[in-house]
Amino acid sequence: MSNGTAVLAYSGGLDTSVCIKWLIEEKGLDVVALIGDVGQKRQDLEFVRQKALDTGAIESVVVDMRDEFVEEYLTKALFANALYENKYPLVSALSRPVIVKHLVAAAHRFNARYIAHGCTGKGNDQVRFEVGVRSLDPDIELIAPVREWDLLTRDIEIEWAQSHGIPVPVTKDSPYSIDDNLWGRAIECGVIEDPWIEPPSDVFELTADPQDAPDEPLYVTIGFSAGVPCSLDGTALSFREVIERMNGLAGAHGYGRIDMVENRLVGVKSHEIYETPGALSLIQAHKALEELTLERDLLRYKLQIEQDWASCVYDAKWFSPLKEAFDAFLASTQEAVTGEVRIKLYKGSCTVAGRKSDYALYDFTLATYGEQDSFDRDAAAGFIELYGLPYAVWARQQRRL
Ligand code: ARG
Repeated sequence: MSNGTAVLAYSGGLDTSVCIKWLIEEKGLDVVALIGDVGQKRQDLEFVRQKALDTGAIESVVVDMRDEFVEEYLTKALFANALYENKYPLVSALSRPVIVKHLVAAAHRFNARYIAHGCTGKGNDQVRFEVGVRSLDPDIELIAPVREWDLLTRDIEIEWAQSHGIPVPVTKDSPYSIDDNLWGRAIECGVIEDPWIEPPSDVFELTADPQDAPDEPLYVTIGFSAGVPCSLDGTALSFREVIERMNGLAGAHGYGRIDMVENRLVGVKSHEIYETPGALSLIQAHKALEELTLERDLLRYKLQIEQDWASCVYDAKWFSPLKEAFDAFLASTQEAVTGEVRIKLYKGSCTVAGRKSDYALYDFTLATYGEQDSFDRDAAAGFIELYGLPYAVWARQQRRL
């Protein structure tokens, strides 16, 4: 008789494989393994599925979450031009909630009382998994084996795995902890833990070293329809295809590397490297089109919401009323964000080289200093007189005192 069922977020790696056995042996549970495909570097997911069964799971399912991830998660992130602490496009923070949604659905389908994940007790992802599950079904109980078990070092864990018949990869372990999906790649641990050390080249996979990137710049025209990328160089594509291609194109030109010391939700500062060529170039193009098409007050206000949106999502509050309200606001701003942006990729840089839109609020005759100028300069004098009035009154008062 088992003590019930746990659905485990399974990756196929050593940690989550040990989790399967540990849940069976230490907790007496039946384990259902759930493998989410969010566009991580292609592994044979059928192999991963089988590995879970071989390790003792009673069921093992692969869920292709890629389209949902793009349509429900990355679309909202792009609307928000989301960059946590002005730098990080939330790669991992965005994938956790979509995985959580499927974990909860699987828990219901398999009548499971528990959901388990393989996150450590020091990171943000444990919080995102657990707060996410609680936001969708507060009756499900959570288990975090890696946080609970006493397999303190990698060697002890490998020993435990071997003595429990879990296959341990023969290839030398990557010295880094990596998480990747369609929106990019996050790298931490190893030598990166010293923020004074320049990240070695073996950290990077998606991006060329800018020094080795092509000597000729590449121009790419990205089309947007209501805020969503819909074409490249005139060829209609899905948002997902645009992301995949921009990862390749911008990455090949050495664009998309981020080196940052970030503030984790759990209070620690950590040094992280990201590779996000697609995400960063698309956010840049999207912002360029918003500059052209959004009314001034709306744009300024939106900039504040963008910061708050990013913090909210970083801080595990994807499923929250505040975040839902932000999304409603952001969606309402996007209709005019339709048009084209031409970007130039060159040796690690990405610059905007042109933009146009039928919705542009940019008026050439108002902006030009040339012959076609229609701007009323006389109106400016009266405007400045009244606009500056409070400061003039204040200055006189200061002088008197
Ligand atoms: N620091 C980033 C975040 O909290 C990335 C975490 C990546 N996780 C990992 N296991 N490498 O979103």
